[in-house]
Amino acid sequence: MDFKGKDIISIRDFCKKDILHILEVAKNMEEKSDPNLLSGKVMASLFFEPSTRTRLSFESAMNHLGGRVIGFADAGVTSASKGETLWDTIKMVEQYSDVIVQRHLIEGAARLAAEAALIPVINAGDGANQHPTQTLLDLYTMLKTKGKLEGLNIGLCGDLKYGRTIHSLAIAMMDFKTKLYFIAPDELQMPKVYLEELKEKGVEFVKAKRIEDVSKELDVLYMTRIQKERFADPIEYERLKGVYQIGLDLLDISKKDLKIMHPLPRVDEIKPELDKTPNAVYFEQAGNGLHVRKALLALVLGKVK
Ligand code: CP
Repeated sequence: MDFKGKDIISIRDFCKKDILHILEVAKNMEEKSDPNLLSGKVMASLFFEPSTRTRLSFESAMNHLGGRVIGFADAGVTSASKGETLWDTIKMVEQYSDVIVQRHLIEGAARLAAEAALIPVINAGDGANQHPTQTLLDLYTMLKTKGKLEGLNIGLCGDLKYGRTIHSLAIAMMDFKTKLYFIAPDELQMPKVYLEELKEKGVEFVKAKRIEDVSKELDVLYMTRIQKERFADPIEYERLKGVYQIGLDLLDISKKDLKIMHPLPRVDEIKPELDKTPNAVYFEQAGNGLHVRKALLALVLGKVK
């Protein structure tokens, strides 16, 4: 695929070859990158929903490559608060910038922005739908820490219903002959639509309620936060919060080289006592966002092939 001018909206937009190419460019960026590669380019950073890692790593990536950043981290300071539509906002922003990075609380908002914009739009998360750049950094982290993507046993644990990082990652893993373990209470299990797609594609998966029941099988355990902000009923959230909390005792019932990942932020699902173990790779994972996002910006702006 020629990435120049492309939108990055869903991980579905990329085949396995595209994904591996992005990871290769990210590796090159990590080893050495040109501090003037994106000189003269402007990235619009439109965060209608809170973020720490995604926004700051995109902005840092642009700065590292010599580009400039405009934007907002709070939609309350924009004319959206006066009723301006997303479409109109994008039609303005595209005149001030070369690439748009957008996070929005509404599913499908990234696709709408891409339809409005004549410049590339990168989805930095749209509601409970997709978070494709997170998936790419997750894959990059797996490749770095496990040495491969093929044939891994991956446990996805926590809020599989609302977790957009989970949805994007499960789709991406369909091409890598992985076995997926969906660990969640019934109420937060993987949505049927994804399970049906996995079945159709012949991807092996199992559902479990307890981590202990499958931990010995796992090469990677991908923990997630229960997504408080997406629950319609706060009582339901109160009932389910804290359902999984892993600590050092998990390591006694896991493979020695288990890698524990998390898109972050965490609440209480990973105890800090795990942070210094060689199994914990979640901070490194967040750091890898910089390399992957440098790669994506350089690719869509046509500065690397
Ligand atoms: N992983 C992730 O998307 O983190 P932020 O919400 O802080 O961007």
